[in-house]
Amino acid sequence: MRCIRYGMIGGGKDSFIGAVHRAAMRLDGGWSFVCGALSSTPEKSKASGVEAGLPAERAYGTWTEMIEAESGRDPADRMEAVVIVTPNDLHAAPAEAALRAGFHVVCDKPLCTTVEDAERLEGLARETGSVFAVTYNYSGYPMVRQARRMVLGGEIGPVRRVLVEYTQGWLATKLEETGQKQALWRTDPARAGAGALGDIGTHAEHLARYITGLEIGSVMADASSFVPGRGVEDDAGVLIRFKEKDGVSARGVLVATQIAPGRRNDLRISVFGETGTVEWHQETPESLVVSGLDGPTRVLHRGGDGLCAEARAATRLPPGHPEGFVGAFANIYRGVRSAIRRSPGADLDYPTIHDGVRGVRFIRACLDSARRGGAWVDPG
Ligand SMILES: NC(=O)c1ccc[n+]([C@@H]2O[C@H](COP(=O)([O-])OP(=O)(O)OC[C@H]3O[C@@H](n4cnc5c(N)ncnc54)[C@H](O)[C@@H]3O)[C@@H](O)[C@H]2O)c1
Repeated sequence: MRCIRYGMIGGGKDSFIGAVHRAAMRLDGGWSFVCGALSSTPEKSKASGVEAGLPAERAYGTWTEMIEAESGRDPADRMEAVVIVTPNDLHAAPAEAALRAGFHVVCDKPLCTTVEDAERLEGLARETGSVFAVTYNYSGYPMVRQARRMVLGGEIGPVRRVLVEYTQGWLATKLEETGQKQALWRTDPARAGAGALGDIGTHAEHLARYITGLEIGSVMADASSFVPGRGVEDDAGVLIRFKEKDGVSARGVLVATQIAPGRRNDLRISVFGETGTVEWHQETPESLVVSGLDGPTRVLHRGGDGLCAEARAATRLPPGHPEGFVGAFANIYRGVRSAIRRSPGADLDYPTIHDGVRGVRFIRACLDSARRGGAWVDPG
């Protein structure tokens, strides 16, 4: 399959996730990095692009310049997809411009900061027929795919309860006051749109929906800013009522906090069905714990015997040779690549703009609920 030529917006020097996307695309092997507008000023943007390996003439000063210049290039060598890894307030405008210019889009989460923008982008993606992925990367882990297959295949019975928590400690103090780049925009309501709910809660929400196949019917949330003077929530607890499936209306608890000392990137989920339980932890992602009503608890290992086709397909290395974050991202990129190239029978499992819209609606519903003292709110 011919490599997909992509341009990146964001992901410049000293940034976090852009380099992870580029590494994941290299690991997947089907992508070619041809241009970018990687930083917030034209000088830095050009310098970042050249440092990341781009030819100087395609290391653009701004994303508007990049979209315009690439649109004018010969179709045989212009970019085909745009990857957006800027702060949250800078997702919607470049995504819209990229769609209007006929490019495919991969955007990091949250899709954007308002439901109105999210729905407009979804409509536009439908109209243009472009592939639009939102990188809920945790759904790319082999053992998460195994968990999904088992739950959807009825191996634990109808789901009754989901516990999902995403806990971090890096914002337990006022890190933004030190000028730390990632903390600065994440705690600025105008740039982030939301705090812990938007930064990590939306990953937890997607993971719960992905593994269970359930949709959220309503939420009741409590959100706090423990660090004095912080303009966004740094901690949230959410009760979830899922829509009924198989005659059961499952319940969930979601915790998203960034003020938990000692917690690094602690995303974990337990799904309790009528007859069994599956449990997965992002910091030990190679295993899945499975229990029944009785009998011994089993630990399934990535690469081991008895796993489903989806988990095997998401695996690159033999068991005991740890894979992780970048590999999971690469699995998402494989799905996106197959969708762009319309490969018959290929793996098309990647989070779409539909998931992005649901994520933004979830964040808004939680913040509405918290503001209203814990009312039940339907995210729509
Ligand atoms: N999926 C994940 O696991 C994951 C992890 C981290 C971050 N994210 C998301 O990725 C996005 C970026 O987060 P980050 O931690 O990498 O942030 P960051 O601050 O490290 O990087 C942001 C980058 O965007 C650049 N930028 C800012 N304005 C720009 C502009 N006008 N034009 C071009 N570039 C511009 C900055 O210079 C920087 O290079 C956020 O939306 C965040 O929520 C996702």
